[in-house]
Amino acid sequence: MTILPSTDRRNQFIFPAALVSLLFIASLRIVLENLKNSHHSRSFFWQPGGGYRVVRRPVHVSNDEVIEKGCNIFEGKWVWDNVSHPLYTEESCPLLVKQVTCLKNGRPDSYYQNWKWQPDGCNLPRFNALKLLEILRDKRLMFVGDSVQRGMFDSMVCLVQSVIPEGKKSLKRVPPRKIFRAEEYNASIEYYWAPFLVESISDHATNHTVLKRLVRLDSISNHSKQWEGVDILVFESYVWWMHKPTINATYGNLKNVQEYNVTKAYRIAMETWANWIETSINTHDQKVFFMTMSPTHLWNWEWKTGDGGNCFGESQPIQGPYWGTGSNLDIMGIVKDVLGRLRVNVRVLNITQLSEYRKDGHASIYGERKGKLLTKEQRSDPKNFADCIHWCLPGVPDTWNEILYAVLLQDYRKF
Ligand SMILES: *[C@@H]1O[C@H](CO)[C@@H](O)[C@H](O)[C@H]1NC(C)=O
Ligand SMILES: *[C@@H]1O[C@H](CO)[C@@H](O)[C@H](O)[C@H]1NC(C)=O
Ligand SMILES: *[C@@H]1O[C@H](CO)[C@@H](O)[C@H](O)[C@H]1NC(C)=O
Ligand SMILES: *[C@@H]1O[C@H](CO)[C@@H](O)[C@H](O)[C@H]1NC(C)=O
Ligand SMILES: *[C@@H]1O[C@H](CO)[C@@H](O)[C@H](O)[C@H]1NC(C)=O
Ligand SMILES: *[C@@H]1O[C@H](CO)[C@@H](O)[C@H](O)[C@H]1NC(C)=O
Ligand SMILES: *[C@@H]1O[C@H](CO)[C@@H](O)[C@H](O)[C@H]1NC(C)=O
Repeated sequence: MTILPSTDRRNQFIFPAALVSLLFIASLRIVLENLKNSHHSRSFFWQPGGGYRVVRRPVHVSNDEVIEKGCNIFEGKWVWDNVSHPLYTEESCPLLVKQVTCLKNGRPDSYYQNWKWQPDGCNLPRFNALKLLEILRDKRLMFVGDSVQRGMFDSMVCLVQSVIPEGKKSLKRVPPRKIFRAEEYNASIEYYWAPFLVESISDHATNHTVLKRLVRLDSISNHSKQWEGVDILVFESYVWWMHKPTINATYGNLKNVQEYNVTKAYRIAMETWANWIETSINTHDQKVFFMTMSPTHLWNWEWKTGDGGNCFGESQPIQGPYWGTGSNLDIMGIVKDVLGRLRVNVRVLNITQLSEYRKDGHASIYGERKGKLLTKEQRSDPKNFADCIHWCLPGVPDTWNEILYAVLLQDYRKF
């Protein structure tokens, strides 16, 4: 049992300066990618004249893929499994961005790639890219949120892309979207940048303010019109709210800017989002998921006798139980409350607890800053430069997708 020292509540909000720069860096990186990309054709693999080949295969859920009724797949433990994991490698997924390829960037250990999530009461089905593509045939799957959510998108693309032949897949950037297409399946896996879900001054996908935040708590339509009709939506929004205990926001009149308690602002924003869900989702042919907060590992005194460090140098998961102060329980309560009152079925991907154990999974000093790998000087100063928010790939976000896959697969049991 990890006993948590009593903490200053402010800790939950005031992330170190590193966070601000990380978020900024993530956005700058997109700018750079776009610049690079604009020199080439906009899609990577697409070759014209591919034509359509429609070969439908029914999605069959075999007995060992069935999740037993009543099994909570979010409760369990990480088990060492270097046979089945990782599900892909940095080399096998050329679409991976430099920010997440920790090994290539010099990380000395690769243990973080070899853990499998083992629910207590059942097994997760083994990820099958062909089955997932069949599930996504003629459909759009869209991840909506911030840069953590973009990691989940990147992971999903890597999980499926290797089974698609060259010329039959493409990755395009259409800000604020990234769109991966599997032509033979007429399937898209997309990412949509909306760090607060509702509108804000940080919505420009490539050039957004980070230090200055201003959220429009009652406005979502600029985003939501691009979410309409999407078959499978996966939402997430957390870390951008947690910069300070209060946040500048408007409700109604754009000239009337007020400082809101973050929890109050988050609740109002979630209700705006929930309103859109209620009025726009047709549960007959659309599925909606909400992913709970992705944990941060910014203070190592939370899991050991700390020395003022963070996730840097961690190579093993925490043996539970453990819950860090970075995962705000008030926010979790709001998510639960708002989703609980919805008439539309929104399923929760409650990945917070399982990811809490993974202090070893972050990019740490093996990611990027300002679109570049860290310099030698920066690497020698992990206290200020380690990224303990984003995750290496292959890594923890693959498990989030294994779980999403498991849930989608169960939906086919009745057929
Ligand atoms: C897998 O892990 C086991 C147990 O730690 C180890 O003995 C073995 O060498 C590892 N295999 C590979 C391929 O890394
Ligand atoms: C391709 O998928 C889109 C949804 O992403 C769908 O609207 C369209 O009907 C599909 N096309 C064919 C030929 O089935
Ligand atoms: C939403 O779109 C309208 C019209 O394009 C624009 O005037 C407004 O600034 C946008 N809101 C945000 C928050 O970007
Ligand atoms: C980014 O946005 C700022 C403020 O809106 C603007 O002044 C600047 O010109 C923009 N930069 C680019 C590269 O578009
Ligand atoms: C809100 O905006 C005002 C005016 O720009 C600024 O002084 C204040 O620091 C902001 N508050 C927060 C929580 O960012
Ligand atoms: C914000 O609201 C929460 C929940 O109502 C409360 O626990 C917290 O103390 C408030 N924070 C501030 C800074 O007022
Ligand atoms: C997610 O799981 C945690 C326990 O791990 C629980 O406390 C929390 O209420 C759950 N959140 C939601 C939205 O269901």
